[in-house]
Amino acid sequence: MSANQQKLNAARAAMEHIERDWIIGVGTGSTANHFIDVLAEHKGEIDGAVASSEASAQRLTNHGIRVLGLDQTGDLPVYVDGADEATKHLHLIKGGGAALTREKIVAAASKKFICIADLSKLVPVLGKFPLPIEVIPMARSYVARQLFKLGGRPVFRDGCITDNGNEILDVHDLDIPNPVEMETKLNQIVGIVTNGLFAARPANLLILGEDNRVQEIS
Ligand code: 5RP
Repeated sequence: MSANQQKLNAARAAMEHIERDWIIGVGTGSTANHFIDVLAEHKGEIDGAVASSEASAQRLTNHGIRVLGLDQTGDLPVYVDGADEATKHLHLIKGGGAALTREKIVAAASKKFICIADLSKLVPVLGKFPLPIEVIPMARSYVARQLFKLGGRPVFRDGCITDNGNEILDVHDLDIPNPVEMETKLNQIVGIVTNGLFAARPANLLILGEDNRVQEIS
């Protein structure tokens, strides 16, 4: 069966954790899109959603689901989003879809973060997927030099402007045995808006879609 079916299975399983009349956080990417489509099948059960990207906000709106800003809602009971890599410790790499900053904000403002993914996203150690870093455009070269010093090989994501008007560096060749330590180091570099490590605030629940079932790690 396909990764697509596995993503859908994970999205359907996440719906079981959503309670009636909640306003929930909704992520970005193909797995999150499945979740938005599942939400549409349950229209009227939730009160609304806070989206982590303009693309997800548009998809929710197209389905007739009310989209709110985080300033209107305060903290959320749950945030559901995908990942590019995940470990059994619930540490993640995110940002393949360039939405990492808003994703980290909505995750931070949510009591529970449910990560949904196909099985291929589960890895023993993070770092094979190039780590996305959102940078202020004028700081791009400076930040790239600092990333080289950390042992990474930053590559500019050509043609990508984030929803916040910034740019993305994808950092190759980083070995990340200690994601919290690396996230902390990256947070010290001036000019980085957000790095794609979700470790200091990991997921609370990882739902991995398999062909005919899901695996939940918490
Ligand atoms: C977007 C993300 C996505 O969650 C991540 O890229 C996974 O995407 P997909 O569900 O399409 O595999 O972090 O910024």
